[in-house]
Amino acid sequence: MAPCSAAVMTLQPQFDTLAQACRDCRRCPLAAGRQQVVVSRGNPGARVLLIGEAPGADEDVRGQPFVGRSGQLLDRLLVQAGLDPLQDLYLCNAIKCRPPANRRPRPAEVAACRPWLAQQIRLVDPALVLLVGGTALEAVLAIKGGITGLRGRWLSPEQGPMATDMRGRRLMPLLHPSYLLRFAAETEGSPRALTRADLQEVHRQLSALV
Ligand code: URA
Repeated sequence: MAPCSAAVMTLQPQFDTLAQACRDCRRCPLAAGRQQVVVSRGNPGARVLLIGEAPGADEDVRGQPFVGRSGQLLDRLLVQAGLDPLQDLYLCNAIKCRPPANRRPRPAEVAACRPWLAQQIRLVDPALVLLVGGTALEAVLAIKGGITGLRGRWLSPEQGPMATDMRGRRLMPLLHPSYLLRFAAETEGSPRALTRADLQEVHRQLSALV
């Protein structure tokens, strides 16, 4: 487990209250079909917060985000870029319950879950936020589509449903690891190589912060 800083230890009761509130949540119909609410993985004191789409089957069983095949690929790319997934990042999703048959979350489900995401951002207080895939991009910035053109760029948004939560933070959209699983190539210009380069830029920015 990542070592806890004094600030995180002080905030631990608030993280615990948030996790319990998520477990009790019945704000949308996804609550009825879940095995577990999937809140977070990684370091609550991290300077980098990563937001994915939604838990899949493995995450629903294990109760942690990004622990299935796409999560394993994500972890590998993070490590190759010099980032420690458990120490350098706090990982979560735009929604905390698995949609049936892994369908894309509906706008109403994303909206119902947004207050939990906002609380995670407030408690972690990250300097850098990674928006992994189109759902995260839309959930935070209300941008539909266009992740291929936006990936790897630092954004300082002043608009979107989470503009207030994101004030003072730098955001980077990234390709989703489920998409990367469809392209095994790791040669220059491949989606995996582009993502590794994007994560190397995240590592550079993180190193410049500390
Ligand atoms: N895909 C996501 O977006 N999040 C997970 O936790 C797992 C797969």
